[in-house]
Amino acid sequence: MTKSIKIAPSLLSADFSKMGEEMKRIERAGADFAHLDVMDGVFVPNITFGIKMVKDLKKVGSLILDCHLMIVNPQNYVEQFAKAGADYITVHYEACKKDLANVLKQIKSYGVKCGLVINPDTPVEKIEQCIALCDMVLVMSVFPGFGGQKFIPEVLDKCRAIRRIIDQNGYDCLLEIDGGINVENCEQAVLAGCDVLVAGSAVFGASDIEKAIRDLRCGR
Ligand code: DX5
Ligand code: ZN
Repeated sequence: MTKSIKIAPSLLSADFSKMGEEMKRIERAGADFAHLDVMDGVFVPNITFGIKMVKDLKKVGSLILDCHLMIVNPQNYVEQFAKAGADYITVHYEACKKDLANVLKQIKSYGVKCGLVINPDTPVEKIEQCIALCDMVLVMSVFPGFGGQKFIPEVLDKCRAIRRIIDQNGYDCLLEIDGGINVENCEQAVLAGCDVLVAGSAVFGASDIEKAIRDLRCGR
């Protein structure tokens, strides 16, 4: 049975002056998740939006809010993002390090699905023990901070490795990939075992976003 592929447009590439309309636009176009890139200007050299944006976008439509926290000390903000209505909160291994398991448990304690994120240069071994705690693992296929960057194909080996760990252990865990995903490489990402494809510029840069989202599903 071919698995379903979820498409998570990244609002980083949306028009920030019309975020509510942009949420409705991607929902009408068939998106499954709304990928909200929270950046603090410290963990990454860019600043986007925070808790109030999540709270206000929660009131728009019914897309699953997939909150990607590119921030230092995420443990200090989990409660606020949970109460703002995040459905998934994903935190970077590189921001949590040895505290990762506790942060994942903290997210779950609020009834929110938890996930961990690894940068392109972080080996799977660093997070292998924590996958059992996750509802989702996010593999970055660009270095975080900006949309519109070039896909780093070497990360597909990590996707295959994590897919094997999830399947061999029967974990109920999604595998998401984020960064430079487009119609040229989405099939490779799916074949490498990814369930959720984040796409910012490939969706919001398209003249027909419904077709863009459909094409990213690679026929699944
Ligand atoms: C980068 C973000 C990504 C980015 C994806 O730090 O985490 O979600 O917005 O944008 P594209 O698809 O344009 O690479
Ligand atoms: Zn992201």
